[in-house]
This record gives sequence, structure tokens and C-alpha cells, in this order.
Amino acid sequence: MQTPSRITPFQKSHTDPTQPPLTSNSINNVVSLAQRPSTFPVAAEMRTEVEDLLHHPVFLETRFEIHHSVRKCDHLLRTARFAWMIAGAVKANRRTCARAGLLHDIHSRLGSWSTHGAIAASVASEIGENKAVCDAIVPHMFPLGPAPKTKEAWVITVADKVASLADTFHFILHAFSGSSLKQRKLLLASDRFVQHKHRTKMSRAA
Ligand SMILES: [Fe+2]
Ligand SMILES: [Fe+2]
Repeated sequence: MQTPSRITPFQKSHTDPTQPPLTSNSINNVVSLAQRPSTFPVAAEMRTEVEDLLHHPVFLETRFEIHHSVRKCDHLLRTARFAWMIAGAVKANRRTCARAGLLHDIHSRLGSWSTHGAIAASVASEIGENKAVCDAIVPHMFPLGPAPKTKEAWVITVADKVASLADTFHFILHAFSGSSLKQRKLLLASDRFVQHKHRTKMSRAA
């Protein structure tokens, strides 16, 4: 499976010392945002199966990205946790489900609702994930994309829907204190895909 060439402009990490910050006035906010722990802890049993991914640059970058108005890493962790629980109930491969859950929306902004599963699977393949994990990622947007063909793919499809609802619930719950909106604003400033889109729009208007 090959990574689409469209990913190339976004390959550089925020932590890459050769790359300048996206916007000079947002760097302090970005740093504080990145240092904040995830709002969704990983259970010890699952952690042993995904420990390497939790420290992988591809996953770490999602701390700076927005997804359903929350940090993308929180959405990925929620999906992985729900997938882990569902996989246990339906006797699917828990390791495959947890790893697919952590990677299922990587670089999702490069595709549409129906195609970003294939893009995330390409990235997963590129960083060494096996076919079972990639096959579980591709159809996670069903019914907006292809139908799942494996038990693990069905688990990710369901877990992603539940996690998306939980994201929204979490956002609304913390909107009353203002923390959701504050975090959303920081994420919009740090998300390289949002910033890239903004810069493209500005250069077209100029
Ligand atoms: Fe998705
Ligand atoms: Fe998702």
C-alpha cells in the first residue's frame, strides 16, 4: 500500500527543529497544549499492545490537531479504548483493534469522509502495521465508504461512532466552563491542516 503523494507537504513534524512554527504568535499556546495530558487515559492491559504507537511521531502529532472540536489524539484514544472493549465482547483480535483505533484518522484532512480511511491505512502500512490493522482502518466510515469485511473492521466502525458521540458529549460538557472553546481555539491555531488551508485561501484572495 502506498502513501498518497498529497501527504508530502505535511510530512514534517511540529517537533522537527528544522521547521519554523506555523504562526509565530501561537507557539507558546501550542507548547502548553502539547504538554497537557490526554483526557482519556489508556488502560494498563491495552497499553502494552500499543505502547510503541503512543510514542510514535505520527500519533504524537495528533496532539496539535483538531477533530470533532477536540484534540485528535483524544478521539483516537477513545476509539482505541472502545474498540478494545468491543473486541473483547465479540472475540475479535484486541491488539489489531486497539492499534487500528489509534491510527484510523491519521491525516484524515487529506481525504473526504469516504476516502480518508484509505489514507490513514496507507500511513499505518508505511509505519509498519500489518494488513489486518490496515484492513480494519479502511472502511471505518461505513456507510459513507466501503463496507467492513473483517470482524476487526466492524469493531473499529462501531467504536469510531461511539467515540465521536463521546467527543461531542465531552465538548458540550466542558463548554459551560469555557475550557472546550479555549482548547478549540488553541487547536485551530496549532493544526497544520487548518493553517495550510487558511494560508491557501489567503494566497488565492491576494
Ligand atoms: Fe474517520
Ligand atoms: Fe474517527
